[in-house]
Amino acid sequence: MAKYDNSFTDELRQRLSLVDVISRRVPLVKRGQNYWGCCPFHNEKTPSFSVNEDKGFYHCFGCREHGDIISFVMKTENIDFKEAIKELADMAGLKLPTYKQKTQQQIDNEENYIKITESACKIYQDLLFQDIGKHALEYIKKRGFSDDMIKKYRIGYAPKNNIISAKFNNVKIDKLTSTGLVRVGEYGPYDFFRDKLMFPIFNAHGQIVAFSGRSLDGSEPKYINTSDTELFHKRQTIFGFNFARDAIHRANRSIVVEGQIDAIQMQVNGFGETVAPLGTALTEDHIAILCKSNRNITFCFDGDNAGQKAAIRACTLVLPFLRDNSDVRFAFVSGGKDPDEILKTHGVSAMKKIIDDAVPLIDFLWETVNKNYLINTPGGRTQAEKFLKDCVSKITDKIFQSEIENEYNSRKFNQWHKWKKTEYKPDIELPDTNQIDINIIKSIVQTYPEISEKFGDFLISLNISFDEDVQKTTMSLQDAEKFIVSFKLQKYIKKLNAEKIEIINNALKNNVSDPEILKDINEKIKNANDKLENLMDKK
Ligand code: UTP
Ligand code: MN
Repeated sequence: MAKYDNSFTDELRQRLSLVDVISRRVPLVKRGQNYWGCCPFHNEKTPSFSVNEDKGFYHCFGCREHGDIISFVMKTENIDFKEAIKELADMAGLKLPTYKQKTQQQIDNEENYIKITESACKIYQDLLFQDIGKHALEYIKKRGFSDDMIKKYRIGYAPKNNIISAKFNNVKIDKLTSTGLVRVGEYGPYDFFRDKLMFPIFNAHGQIVAFSGRSLDGSEPKYINTSDTELFHKRQTIFGFNFARDAIHRANRSIVVEGQIDAIQMQVNGFGETVAPLGTALTEDHIAILCKSNRNITFCFDGDNAGQKAAIRACTLVLPFLRDNSDVRFAFVSGGKDPDEILKTHGVSAMKKIIDDAVPLIDFLWETVNKNYLINTPGGRTQAEKFLKDCVSKITDKIFQSEIENEYNSRKFNQWHKWKKTEYKPDIELPDTNQIDINIIKSIVQTYPEISEKFGDFLISLNISFDEDVQKTTMSLQDAEKFIVSFKLQKYIKKLNAEKIEIINNALKNNVSDPEILKDINEKIKNANDKLENLMDKK
């Protein structure tokens, strides 16, 4: 009989909502912490059957029947454990793990495979330090790899000629091709990796299952990886995981970067918990592997467009794994192309800051919709809402899901609905430079020459004609000066407010805002207002 280990049944329990599954048979109503309904295991008219989603079990206070999601399906459908698991796996969209006994042949094949990849790795490692690999060694040194790093990550060089097919000529060809290192073409066997800097890819047990080869002459593609084999499935393999496992436990989180060189440089620079997918596309399987350790992941993507896209993809993939205590964040590399470059040019502290500044998933999603949709139009808001709703629906824990939904609803209310009023009204009344003020200024200027001296530049900037004769003012010199200063301040405040409106309207139009600039201008307005008030108080 097939056995399913706890991790699979746990995964089922985590992926599926007990309330959802039970609701298919029993109408449930939420009362307090629990859901209630009429017990499907005995006849009753008033509900005494309770379901606790958090703890994942049901209990009937009438007939004392209780159990979890698996026993519920077994009992109500009268099927055995295996069948129940299958049905639940279908519901969760998970594939049943197969635990077929391996045949002796398979075990032998696998041993052989590892033997070949292991010896191939040693050959590549040696060649890196020989004449033929000089350019590769130079290159990797230039990339900041020390001898210790080269040794630890077992970096090597695959030469231009067919070294593996030649050195293993006593091994059956299908054994060689099964590792992906050798292919058979029109003219016989040939090596897959040629003139490449070689990075072995380890499985979780530290065995070499594949290689990634970087081109050294600038030819494309930049990296080639072993194609999928019996022992290597690119979609299920995370680069650096074998080295990072302990650190992931210690740090209680993992960091995911885009490239393998990034992962290595991160690991040796104090971020031991860093891994990378192989190739750019992250898969659900990658996330499932990381989530087995813990559900705290910081994704660190390149700061370009592709990085943004990759982040959104990661986000939708990770949502089903989210729990109320998961800490999933998104960091973006700026000021350099990728973590490797940041570490090299700005050092560990700059990288640490990038990781520390990572945005929680909920905020990342919110920022993304606000950036990608025209929030100041009803159509844009509708598209944004659809996108958000789609994302939120991926969260499997129903209570958590509704909590997130509430959070977004409140943000929509507070931010979008305020923003809907595209006409921005400043919160203070603007003083107007009306004709009366101008006449007063003219008469002050004609009465007190010392004032036109003192405020000359400002008065010229007003662009009014002081030539014509006007009545002299009855104000004292002191009051006249106060009038000019207050007029100047009001003008200044008016200018700041106009700037503020422009900033806000710009932010509305482009859906970007810089809170620092707004803060700065508000500060200036406040200071000017304070001065103005002060002036008026001094009689
Ligand atoms: P990048 O193009 O960002 O490369 O691809 P990188 O890591 O910065 O490479 P370096 O620093 O120039 O050496 C990120 C990852 O995508 C995969 C590789 O795993 C790479 O690390 N990739 C990239 C490929 O599989 N094939 C390619 O042609 C390019
Ligand atoms: Mn790079």
